[in-house]
Amino acid sequence: MSVSTINRAPSPSGELSIQTVAMPVNTNPRGDIFAGWLVSQMDSAAGVAAVKLARGRVSTVAIDKMKFLTAVHVGAIVSCYTNIIDVGRSSIRISVEVWITDRNNFEPVKVTEGQFVFVAIDDRGRTRAIQK
Ligand SMILES: CC(C)(COP(=O)(O)OP(=O)(O)OC[C@H]1O[C@@H](n2cnc3c(N)ncnc32)[C@H](O)[C@@H]1OP(=O)(O)O)[C@@H](O)C(=O)NCCC(=O)NCCS
Repeated sequence: MSVSTINRAPSPSGELSIQTVAMPVNTNPRGDIFAGWLVSQMDSAAGVAAVKLARGRVSTVAIDKMKFLTAVHVGAIVSCYTNIIDVGRSSIRISVEVWITDRNNFEPVKVTEGQFVFVAIDDRGRTRAIQK
């Protein structure tokens, strides 16, 4: 491993799909951001990537491998990055990473990651093949 690799700070991987600010309305009773709100942001971010790839309607069919690494505070800038991992006949597996920065620290900090599976569906909600 080269010295430049060792010294490089960890950084987000993938395409920036959603960026928003953590608001007081999104907190749990302890005053930290509610995990369910973060999962919702991740679902939306993966949905953006899935719709683009499937060129139409999609639906979340599975959420896997969620891992929360640190708490999020009100005012943090929350960024969701997506990576397409696999594309099947009708399904798309997408990795989502959430990173935060705040007014005092612009070095991005990784908060959580997970994998989301979307299925391309037609107007009747039936699976459809993704054009590759
Ligand atoms: C999405 C839906 C139409 C798929 O129907 P289905 O009968 O499961 O369809 P299939 O079994 O043919 O699976 C479709 C694809 O999804 C994949 N899949 C289904 N369940 C999965 C799971 N739990 N994990 C990973 N992949 C899954 C299958 O492998 C298949 O992939 P492929 O076509 O690329 O080979 C149906 O499950 C559904 O409507 N679910 C509810 C979705 C929803 O409302 N989500 C929002 C919840 S609030």
